[in-house]
Amino acid sequence: MNKIVKNSDAQLLYKSPPNKLELKYPTIADLRRRARRRVPRFAFDYVDGAAGANETGMHRNAAALDAIEVVPRYGVENFKADMEVDLFGRRFSAPIAVAPMGIPGMVWPGGEEAFAKAAQEARMPFTLGSSSAATIERITELAPDCTWFQLYRMPNNDLAINFDLVKRAELAGVHALILTLDVPARTKRPRELRNRLIIPYRPGLRTVVDVLPHPAWLLALSKNGINAFANYRKYAGNNLPNREVVKFARKQSGGTFTWGEVEKFRDKWKGPLVVKGILHPQDANRASKIGVDGIIVSNHGGRQLESAPASIDVLPEIVSSVGNNTTILFDSGIRSGEDVIRALALGAKSTLSGRCFMYGLAALGSKGPKYVIDYFFEEISESMRQVGAKSCAELTSLVTRHTGAYLFKD
Ligand SMILES: Cc1cc2nc3c(=O)[nH]c(=O)nc-3n(C[C@H](O)[C@H](O)[C@H](O)COP(=O)(O)O)c2cc1C
Repeated sequence: MNKIVKNSDAQLLYKSPPNKLELKYPTIADLRRRARRRVPRFAFDYVDGAAGANETGMHRNAAALDAIEVVPRYGVENFKADMEVDLFGRRFSAPIAVAPMGIPGMVWPGGEEAFAKAAQEARMPFTLGSSSAATIERITELAPDCTWFQLYRMPNNDLAINFDLVKRAELAGVHALILTLDVPARTKRPRELRNRLIIPYRPGLRTVVDVLPHPAWLLALSKNGINAFANYRKYAGNNLPNREVVKFARKQSGGTFTWGEVEKFRDKWKGPLVVKGILHPQDANRASKIGVDGIIVSNHGGRQLESAPASIDVLPEIVSSVGNNTTILFDSGIRSGEDVIRALALGAKSTLSGRCFMYGLAALGSKGPKYVIDYFFEEISESMRQVGAKSCAELTSLVTRHTGAYLFKD
């Protein structure tokens, strides 16, 4: 990526011209196009798809972000933007994190490790999902300062497996624990059904026809394998074949945490606790009263409920109702550095992106995570300079036009 250097002419110049990859993939849409060709269709659709017949919820996120205008301030002296952000007692390089995403290793075998290494190097959070193809212990080894861990509720009544995972996360040195609340029911993602991406997954002729034209993906598979649901292996039985672990995992999926259970996690987990998937200010207040450290305003990237509001449209109301008590993070729909600026201008402290990072992984393999991180770092810093904000905190004082905001009832 281009290094920014100061020049005495009070101009900030690019040190070097864009490299080959930057010329080829200047936007996430370019990476997405490449991703579609580079990985099997079931893997691409897993990332690209969403809930509902028309996937409207996902499109609504993008449209709502696009509609937000930010009024820039000019005439300030030239500066290098300070993108750093304090999250739960740690300082990170920029207000962007990798959102939890089930099984990156299915999209590109070895994907979790590639994210962890790139995130540690860049000093930004990588959120490992509970169903990932790498264990918490392995990922914290690679990203000791930057691992967040996301938990789904397992349906056993006493939460024994969940609590054991929390203990493992603590021992491994995970920074923040994220409880996902927005999966109370099984969701229908038509593309996954069409591709038979269901558990138990039965590879057949269809799979062969799908994967054969993707030799780079097959090579990554032969090197790294896909150890899906690696964290559950301990509970399913250590010596079981993968297929049995996957069957076990299927029995463990579905259902959400209740507020009472969130309280129990607040007692068990002494580190930063974050709830993810909040869209209603009263839910946000509830979480805040329980004493969670953070709330991720998110509609799961439109993957759960087609009719859910764009999460950016409920963000301002949640920010104003929760006040300064709890850190508000935002995801769903981010595709550029300017989208990050929009979310921060509307009050989020930091953001996460899911698909941008997965498109990068699918398009460029293990080099993808670093490419997307650099892409965001450069775009965020340039956008901050463009609007005249020297630090992330200054973004909140910018004037915005936001027509989609909701008026919530008491
Ligand atoms: C392929 C994929 C898998 C996901 N798996 C999970 C998951 O296991 N747990 C979770 O909390 N969110 C999951 N999400 C949702 C993301 O954490 C995030 O909320 C969403 O991707 C944000 O929208 P965006 O993709 O437009 O950035 C997943 C998203 C994608 C794209």
